[in-house]
Amino acid sequence: MAATEPQPEAFRVLIDRPTLLQRIAELAREVRAAFPAEPPCLVAVMDGARVFATELARHLPGFPAAHAVRASSYGHGTQSSGQVLLAASAIPVEGRPVVILEDIVDTGRTIDKLRTWLLAHGAVEVRVCTLLSKPSRRVVAVALDWVGFEIPDEFVIGFGMDVDGRYRDLPHVAVYR
Ligand code: PRP
Repeated sequence: MAATEPQPEAFRVLIDRPTLLQRIAELAREVRAAFPAEPPCLVAVMDGARVFATELARHLPGFPAAHAVRASSYGHGTQSSGQVLLAASAIPVEGRPVVILEDIVDTGRTIDKLRTWLLAHGAVEVRVCTLLSKPSRRVVAVALDWVGFEIPDEFVIGFGMDVDGRYRDLPHVAVYR
């Protein structure tokens, strides 16, 4: 970290860790209840969703491990570039329901592009479970099936979310300023 970068303690906590963990447990219960017969294919959007997906998985024993799909729209900064770069490897979604796991839905472009990709590759349905949503920033209308928290238009870090690769390891969600 550059010497001029603020220390993590400098950032205001938006959602503390106990609140995050409690809500994720609830989300897991709801996802499980939605698929009583057969677990869906879980697809986690990297890198941001790694921490959320890992915590969710702790509450979904018996579910297959999430597949990782890499998507990036921010590059180096706090503004979405408007271009979503998708690197989806061979995920076996044909004939299966899919649940996308996201850390945050902002403009909606990433979810929109990934949903289109998954349906084009044979997914029978695509649902979305996101830890955070910023409805005020939406550019593309996307249906979200499970939302942990709706948040205001603040750039957030921690719990997997970064700015230029920093602060992903913060144990809570904080506001970057
Ligand atoms: C972030 C976040 C979502 C996406 C949401 O990813 O993790 O995937 O942006 O933004 P959108 O709704 O405007 O598309 P980012 O591009 O920062 O990559 P990262 O997950 O590797 O940090």
